[in-house]
Amino acid sequence: MKNMWIWLRNLFCKPAAKIGLGVLVTVGFIAGILAWQGFNAGMAATNTEEFCVSCHTMHQNQEELKETVHWSNRSGVRAQCSDCHVPHDFTDKMARKIQASVEVWSHLTGKIDTPEKFEANRARLAQNEWDRFKANGSKECRTCHDYNSMDFEKMRETSREAMRGAAERNQSCVDCHQGIAHKKPAKNRHP
Ligand code: HEC
Ligand code: HEC
Ligand code: HEC
Ligand code: HEC
Repeated sequence: MKNMWIWLRNLFCKPAAKIGLGVLVTVGFIAGILAWQGFNAGMAATNTEEFCVSCHTMHQNQEELKETVHWSNRSGVRAQCSDCHVPHDFTDKMARKIQASVEVWSHLTGKIDTPEKFEANRARLAQNEWDRFKANGSKECRTCHDYNSMDFEKMRETSREAMRGAAERNQSCVDCHQGIAHKKPAKNRHP
């Protein structure tokens, strides 16, 4: 213990030239690792289901997901919210706003925080997602599903033909597979 104090005192009181390059590099290296880990922990936190559900819990999205094969299946592979959805750009946009004002957070959460408000907005929000999947060819789905790895023979007869054609065209999954994780919004609903 005593040695450590001497070491620390020397570290901070001696001029840089005497500390030695080794110590400086080591301290810098450790500080770098700590900063990096903090950053990663923050990024991971915004990717967890609990985080999404902290705002989206009032709504049906998670309850509905639980009814589907993406929540529970014979293979034990679960798709999380962020596996299918690009998280909102929290680091850039929201985090800064949230820091600036708690009211922004209440506004954000209040916008869809009852089943009624959510349903009133649902068609619009689903359309945002469909547009996004359309534009990126359902990229997120393909981190797990890959046409090249599909054994069409093992598929149900009703799937085979449609899926072979889709693979040939390299078509975006969500063109055909909508409402696979949540209920599809009712058409032409006027809130
Ligand atoms: C701060 C509260 C909050 C958190 C946390 C949050 N959301 Fe949202 N989310 C909202 C609000 C509010 C809307 C509706 C925005 C609107 O009305 O345009 C929304 C809309 C969406 C939509 C609809 C598509 C769109 O972009 O309009 C998706 C998908 C979505 N959120 C997914 C997620 C996922 C996945 C997470 C976790 C990574 C998450 N959300 C975390 C508040 C939140
Ligand atoms: C985290 C990985 C993952 C992601 C991301 C993912 N899936 Fe899946 N998907 C699975 C698993 C696992 C199964 C169930 C496999 C089994 O039957 O055991 C599955 C099953 C399916 C099925 C078959 C449903 C049925 O009734 O048999 C369809 C259709 C499907 N996914 C479409 C999609 C689409 C569309 C997306 C993108 C919006 C997507 N998946 C994203 C892992 C994923
Ligand atoms: C042209 C429309 C179309 C496209 C595009 C498409 N599918 Fe399908 N897919 C279907 C149809 C139709 C079925 C049969 C659905 C049923 O019987 O409920 C099916 C069935 C499936 C199944 C179940 C197979 C089985 O075991 O029977 C999976 C998994 C699947 N699709 C995943 C995907 C994924 C992932 C993508 C994108 C990489 C994709 N599909 C693109 C139309 C399509
Ligand atoms: C397997 C992929 C997948 C998973 C996992 C998933 N979603 Fe979705 N989500 C979709 C698709 C596809 C849509 C577009 C609408 C549709 O087809 O149902 C969507 C739509 C939405 C919307 C827009 C409103 C609506 O209901 O259509 C919100 C909000 C949303 N998801 C939030 C979440 C949250 C929160 C989670 C985690 C609890 C989650 N999603 C998990 C695929 C997924």
